[in-house]
Amino acid sequence: MAAQIAVLDTGGQYCHLIARKIRELGVSSEVFASETPLEQLRHVRGIVISGGPSSVYDEGSPTMESAVLAAGIPVLGICYGQQLITHLLGGTVKPGTKGEYGLALLDLAVADSPLLAGVTDHQQVWMSHKDKVAVPPPGFSVLASTSTCETAAIENRALKMYGVQFHPEVVHSTEGMRILSNFLFDIVGCEKDWSPGERVELVKQQIRDRVGDRKVFFFVSGGVDSTVAFMLCLEALGGDHVRGVYVDTGLMREGETEFVRQTFAGLGLVRIEDAAEEFLGALEGIREPELKRHIIGEQFVKIQERIIDEIGLLNGKWILGQGTIYPDTIESGGTAKAATIKTHHNRVPGIQKLMEAGLIVEPLADFYKDEVRTIGRELCLAPQLLDRHPFPGPGLAIRCLCADEDLHVQRVPDGYLVPVRSVGVQGDFRTYAPVLAIDAFPTVASRLQDQATELVNRTSGVNRVIARVAAREPLEHLRVFASTITHGRVDLLREADAVVRQMSAESGFDKDVWQFPVILIPVGAGEARDSVVLRPIQSVDGMTADSVSMPDELLHAMAERLMAIPEIAAVFYDLTHKPPGTIEWE
Ligand code: XMP
Repeated sequence: MAAQIAVLDTGGQYCHLIARKIRELGVSSEVFASETPLEQLRHVRGIVISGGPSSVYDEGSPTMESAVLAAGIPVLGICYGQQLITHLLGGTVKPGTKGEYGLALLDLAVADSPLLAGVTDHQQVWMSHKDKVAVPPPGFSVLASTSTCETAAIENRALKMYGVQFHPEVVHSTEGMRILSNFLFDIVGCEKDWSPGERVELVKQQIRDRVGDRKVFFFVSGGVDSTVAFMLCLEALGGDHVRGVYVDTGLMREGETEFVRQTFAGLGLVRIEDAAEEFLGALEGIREPELKRHIIGEQFVKIQERIIDEIGLLNGKWILGQGTIYPDTIESGGTAKAATIKTHHNRVPGIQKLMEAGLIVEPLADFYKDEVRTIGRELCLAPQLLDRHPFPGPGLAIRCLCADEDLHVQRVPDGYLVPVRSVGVQGDFRTYAPVLAIDAFPTVASRLQDQATELVNRTSGVNRVIARVAAREPLEHLRVFASTITHGRVDLLREADAVVRQMSAESGFDKDVWQFPVILIPVGAGEARDSVVLRPIQSVDGMTADSVSMPDELLHAMAERLMAIPEIAAVFYDLTHKPPGTIEWE
């Protein structure tokens, strides 16, 4: 079936998400490279051009055939897409240096635009850009603005061409779906031709086509993605054709191995492999996040090779199944133009080689976490399994931060610069930068999160803001200690994580958040050389996320329990949304 809408990929983190949102509105859509010639796009009814990390002025930046814009097909350009239309059609794009990341309010300039029909004035939209349109192309007019972007939406009604600087596809643009729907149905005239109900059968058929008469070997982690992928293969291929191994990497949370044992006990298809010493040994002395991720991913490949060899399966009859979901691929820089934000454990070179050899099956590769949960429900998996918070493949290793050398905390105008670097994403690019700590308790009422985005935009070289919850010493006396991943630090993190997990579950707070990472940072004073960062977030798909507040009483109690651990010097609260921070610190 030919898709009605082509989404042209200019390298943005949200390109695939646009296609998904269009499908959610019941319209078939497909992602194409932005340079796809008109000949291959003639069948589509409408075109959406995605956002991307480039500037139209960069050498080799993504572009598109001018003929596509002249073909009379309705077009909606999003973010970079809007800038590209402007650039190609004779308007002016103004290069930016600082950029605008986060929420903004959209003020409508006209009342009757088909694109913004039914949209309320002064609504919340979500921005992530540096450049912006200075002068729209001839024949275009401005539909809306924000306080920092005068050209937040433009149109040429006669040509059915539109552009928006904000991202209607992310949930933070509260009326974004309305805008997409206006484009699809009122401007393009699409018909509803796509239904998510047929998905599970389609995926099972895809598994059978890919695997053929071979068998599938799985690493299961007890998490939602690998379990749902495993169960899909089991249903598609039957029990004789699927095997699973759970590897205890020594980097798992407390009680995980037992949970997996119980979950898969009935199926009898999963064996448990203790590889803690191997993983921790391979990580000895390693501090850099991407290196940690690569080492862990390759360690999984080694174990897979060993097990397959051991049980005599190296006979061309086995392939590796993975629970990779779409964000894993896009954030690993795995699409044609997207920047690498983090290399996920299932995208390291050893795995890429297997992929090239056709030895990998990934039934969930096109889906997001919330869709995976829905598929899991359709497979009748237990809610306590499906509702688990996501936990990353590399485990506690990427929550146990390390430092190359001893360093001091530095006073800066808005707080304290803590020279511990964490990963962030800004304007579709990866950042790796120090943290700003503010000396204030994050009560619910204070809503410190509202200031965090502004603080990151204002403080150069910082991508994350944390607030002090409790500390043994004033913040200016804390320092960063040279550190690596050791048994002791992983155990300390596991202990702190278990405290947080237990208190979140008992209070019911875990139901209010999508994920709650606990991070150990090598910041302390005297004998207590580490601190804990609490990072509860709300999200739909993990691609964007909000830092959420915790009830004051619970936060006080949690801090008290954590500070009772002698090795912990301080407890902090991460106030950063994604972007500019990522959910995990590494
Ligand atoms: P970030 O930190 O990029 O994370 O905002 C987005 C989501 O992905 C999870 N995550 C991973 N999951 N393997 C995984 O299976 C990985 O290597 C990995 N890295 C991050 C993260 O926990 C969050 O839910």
